[in-house]
Amino acid sequence: MAEDKSPNVVWHQAHVTRQMREAQGGHRAAVLWFTGLSGAGKSTLAHAVEERLHGMGCRTFVIDGDNVRHGLCKDLGFSDEDRVENIRRVAELAGLFVQAGVLTLTAFISPFRRDRAQARALLGEDFIEIYCDTSLDVCEGRDVKGLYARARAGEIPAFTGISSPYEPPDHAEIVVPTGNMPLETCVEMVIAYLKSHRLVGSKGDT
Ligand SMILES: Nc1ncnc2c1ncn2[C@@H]1O[C@H](COP(=O)(O)OP(=O)(O)OP(=O)(O)O)[C@@H](O)[C@H]1O
Ligand SMILES: [Mg+2]
Repeated sequence: MAEDKSPNVVWHQAHVTRQMREAQGGHRAAVLWFTGLSGAGKSTLAHAVEERLHGMGCRTFVIDGDNVRHGLCKDLGFSDEDRVENIRRVAELAGLFVQAGVLTLTAFISPFRRDRAQARALLGEDFIEIYCDTSLDVCEGRDVKGLYARARAGEIPAFTGISSPYEPPDHAEIVVPTGNMPLETCVEMVIAYLKSHRLVGSKGDT
């Protein structure tokens, strides 16, 4: 947990509240937290779900692991300590998006249960964990970025699934078999969850 180095700052209350933003947007805000091995399909599914939601008139944003490591988290590597801090920052960032009334989709391997638990603790009922459940074999077979081959060759230290553990969720809100189900069906699963939990669908056009 990062040290609090600014104990004397006071929270300033916004006049435009989250509830006002949600009412204007016509849908609830939440964090769809996609987790799974590299190549499991987190980014692919998150962006496909976002496209559907955008088409339904929702305010959306995808926070993608690779992208934040270009900026917000460029000072962090892949040690256990840095992975923890990476997830903490992302959870805080996602929480701000929620306050902005946005359906926020995050695509991070987030391999450790305790870190996802920390994100859940921070975000409370706004946290919806989506496990992209795919075997290591399938991910390695896909090897979209060529990283598994390099990890097997010993070129990448602490690579999740090879030389660093992935701890699957015990109680994910949604488990999507992204290894053996067509993308469109996976998208439908997520949208169906959002509709059945009344996060989207109140505009009449959704
Ligand atoms: N049902 C599916 N859902 C998602 N991706 C799928 C599915 N079926 C096949 N794929 C393919 O699997 C690959 C997943 O790659 P993607 O970059 O989305 O993984 P990732 O989980 O974001 O990995 P990383 O953690 O390295 O960013 C893509 O090539 C995608 O086309
Ligand atoms: Mg990705």
